[in-house]
Amino acid sequence: MRDTQDSTKFKARDAASYDPLTAEFDRFTRRLTQSLAERMVDLANVLPTDRVLDLGTGTGIVALAAAARPNFLGQITGVDLSDGMLRAAKQRAVQEGFGSHLDFCRTDAEALALENSSFDVALSLFALLHFPNPLLALRELFRVLRPGGRLVLAVGSGPQWFSRDGLTEGVKVLRRRFAIRRQKLLTGPSALNDLIARRLEGHADPEESSLALESRKRTQKVPELIREAGFCSLQTSWCGAEAVIETPEEFWDLQRTFSSFARKRLLDAEARRAEAVRAEFLKTCREVQERGGKLTYPYGALYVVAKRPPEQAGI
Ligand SMILES: C[S@@+](CC[C@H](N)C(=O)[O-])C[C@H]1O[C@@H](n2cnc3c(N)ncnc32)[C@H](O)[C@@H]1O
Repeated sequence: MRDTQDSTKFKARDAASYDPLTAEFDRFTRRLTQSLAERMVDLANVLPTDRVLDLGTGTGIVALAAAARPNFLGQITGVDLSDGMLRAAKQRAVQEGFGSHLDFCRTDAEALALENSSFDVALSLFALLHFPNPLLALRELFRVLRPGGRLVLAVGSGPQWFSRDGLTEGVKVLRRRFAIRRQKLLTGPSALNDLIARRLEGHADPEESSLALESRKRTQKVPELIREAGFCSLQTSWCGAEAVIETPEEFWDLQRTFSSFARKRLLDAEARRAEAVRAEFLKTCREVQERGGKLTYPYGALYVVAKRPPEQAGI
């Protein structure tokens, strides 16, 4: 990002792009990423009296998973920049009976309005790639964690190539490519992103952060940034799945909600042009299904578990 003005604009646009889609976002995260949120809470080993921060909480999936831990009596704070997401998260917390353990507040990940050393655990699922200056956000997480506090952060990513998951996933990727070439498969989010890139021009500002655009190097870059922010004892792991989506309409809704590129370009497009893209997309999906093909959404997260180093006596 060129300067703070660009970065402020980027953040405001990112947050606003979620506001009209919070119900869809909540529905799809419950279906696709609930288990990823639970895995995050397990990796953090959230204890009954922990003070927990959920950064980029969205509709609160991670915060709620932490609150649902057996005998949890601690306090969880979910933060986000989207008013729509925060409203939805608050509603869910009340509906699910977690009102007193949870609070949500609007603050920027890169300048958290939170006290130093005020959390035992910091969690963040699928948010880091939204920040124009991820290192700033990681330094903020470091600041608000107490010395010895635990961080579990996950970003959307494939696995590290030279790992067992990397080999298994590599085979799946090749199979998918073959099926796509035979027009028997469409996979998200590229199925919609590619069409949008051809049909709708963007405006001057990028839809995605520089880190989000570094898809190949992400598995190295994210742990490097976490170390650079001061964290130690890093451990990485990966978890992924592939959802089969039954109808073209659901496939459209899922991608225009989850893909930042699709969400922002569609929001900026004239309604008539966005509708034309939708009609073309649904038609292509139907043709694939009529040939006996499938619509799928492969997704995965690279998890990094780390610690803020404990304070050493005499230093
Ligand atoms: C992909 S969503 C993930 C939400 C949730 N963690 C989940 O996994 O369902 C990314 C979230 O980060 C939030 N976000 C983006 N930029 C932010 C910023 N600068 N500060 C705080 N939250 C931000 C977005 O509003 C959005 O709710």
